[in-house]
Amino acid sequence: MKITVLDGGHAVARALARSIAEALREKADLVLGLATGRTPVDAYAELRRMHQEGDGDWSRASTFNLDEFAGIDAGHPGSFRQFMRRHLFDGVNIDPTRIYFLNGAATDLDAECDRYEEAIRGAGGIDLQVLGIGSNGHIGFNEPGDELIARTHRVRLLASTRQDNASLFGDDPSHVPAEALSMGIGTILQARRIVLVATGANKADCIAQTVNGRITTRVPASVLQVHRDVEVLLDRAAALRISPI
Ligand code: GLP
Repeated sequence: MKITVLDGGHAVARALARSIAEALREKADLVLGLATGRTPVDAYAELRRMHQEGDGDWSRASTFNLDEFAGIDAGHPGSFRQFMRRHLFDGVNIDPTRIYFLNGAATDLDAECDRYEEAIRGAGGIDLQVLGIGSNGHIGFNEPGDELIARTHRVRLLASTRQDNASLFGDDPSHVPAEALSMGIGTILQARRIVLVATGANKADCIAQTVNGRITTRVPASVLQVHRDVEVLLDRAAALRISPI
């Protein structure tokens, strides 16, 4: 893993935005895996700003988001699709037909997961996957547990994750859907390149376990150690507990 520690959240956001913009310049039909959560929001704002200034042509790029809540439709304000629309898609010239999302309102959720895997394959696989990390070490919605699932699948969300996502649902964790759909660990590891971003002291423990710890299903992000092209962008607070590698 290539670990970069930067001065603060804004520096992390700029570095992530630059990395994505560069990838877009190198490959106009980039297939980008995207994450939600608070951490990448400033990077998405930076990408919108860059686009307005003429830097970043998204017209041929495709995006696949990591995950979506189950049981709510795409128009629900708490959905990750709406989150991405607000924070990124409305501000760049992406072709709406190239925005891929799991449909949490599908009647057959297992078939929906298969459809998503197929769509990723059909697009030629993910070139660059952006990841945040949950304070419990989850990536996408791959929660810690006795086992991890390779392919896109349904997930029952842990109470702590529903709490972390409460701001999208009027600050009430009981309003956060109990289930979600998420790319699996294998789906994520198949991305050709991965950039993980984390900021703030509440990520210091899970980041130390992710980069220095043993590979365990108890810290899903620790599996990234086996990938050959992972960059970890951290602010000083999130990097506080890592030991030099
Ligand atoms: C959600 C998303 C994850 C994200 C995590 C961290 O659970 N499913 O993909 O990494 O939030 O969120 P934050 O960046 O707000 O800490």
